[in-house]
Amino acid sequence: MLSLKNTSVCPFYAVKSNNSPPIIKMLGTVGAGFDCASQGEIEQVLSLGVTPNKIIYAHPCKQESHIRYAQAHGVQIMTFDSEEELVKISRCHDSAKLVLRLGVDDSKALLRLSGKFGAKLGSCQHLLQRAQNLDLEVIGVSFHVGCGCTDSKAYRQAISDAHCVFNIGEELGFKMTLLDIGGGFPGQNDFKLTFEEIAADINKALEEFFPPSCGVSVIAEPGRYYVTSAVTLAANVIAKKVIMEELTNCRTANRTMMYYLNDGVYGSISFLLHDPAQSTVSPYPHRKPKPDEPVYPCVIWGPTCDSVDVVVKNTFLPELQVGDWLLIDNMGAYTHCISTTFNGFRKTPIYYVMSRDTMHWIQLSCTHSLIKPC
Ligand SMILES: Cc1ncc(COP(=O)(O)O)c(C=O)c1O
Repeated sequence: MLSLKNTSVCPFYAVKSNNSPPIIKMLGTVGAGFDCASQGEIEQVLSLGVTPNKIIYAHPCKQESHIRYAQAHGVQIMTFDSEEELVKISRCHDSAKLVLRLGVDDSKALLRLSGKFGAKLGSCQHLLQRAQNLDLEVIGVSFHVGCGCTDSKAYRQAISDAHCVFNIGEELGFKMTLLDIGGGFPGQNDFKLTFEEIAADINKALEEFFPPSCGVSVIAEPGRYYVTSAVTLAANVIAKKVIMEELTNCRTANRTMMYYLNDGVYGSISFLLHDPAQSTVSPYPHRKPKPDEPVYPCVIWGPTCDSVDVVVKNTFLPELQVGDWLLIDNMGAYTHCISTTFNGFRKTPIYYVMSRDTMHWIQLSCTHSLIKPC
């Protein structure tokens, strides 16, 4: 949670990044809310005991039947970025509390989102007027600066833009009470911009544009920030080939190893195909290599028959045998939830562990209400 004097930014975890039930339960227990993108995600979160007021339906282009589901199950807060969406919501949900998703400058993000979602600043007045004509209640503004944001000034600019939209909304008579600063926070410690640097700039901007005295609640929708480093993939070497390459002026041959794992780009590692925010992985052997153990050039393939199913094209590792394990860190976000069973390969099972200290802390916090509800 980012904290700001008397205010704090309440996390609404982006379920899309990892919808494992224990993760949702755990975050719910420590007071988080949830950003859901569909009926399926809302159903799952509700089934785990989360109350509807802790959910934001944060998809600006929703399916009508999903809006009706939200209405029937008490989920009221939802985003929009177009007139058509307003018309749909007015047809399907009579008590929606709307949040205008603003398109912001995401040019500093590794994975941009504003091309697909977000109203332009110049069209917000018209959209808010249309909401008013349809007798809809608008309560705030959201944005997303893009995944893997590399410049914290993007948040500052977006917060300033959101402030302009708050003014327009208030002039029209809406009670604007919710600012949603989206996701985009890094999940790995070695990312070029740290969470603390981003938080410092966000806190300054909030102090300037939304000071605690204005009474606006601030939420965020972190996805990869929470889960990336929580998961390590253990992939098994299911096959191996040694490729001998003749050297021109020499009798000896270079050996390149080809290893085939039981998980690949159609499984947990699909982000290699489509997510510029996570474009490489660094597998390492589960056993510590001996100090003088030679390393060999190798290619690491996924298990399917498809040749794009390559995990690492070129790396050096000590020699592995069939049955050995390779570990890959930072595998918690947009991994298992996107994996397929292409070619009949089963999804990798998940095993959950928690240190005794963490478990103890959570139990204590819950018993003694140490966690401030958002
Ligand atoms: C609306 C919305 N909120 C939050 C997120 C989570 O983003 P991140 O995982 O970068 O924090 C996404 C990601 O696509 C999103 O579309």
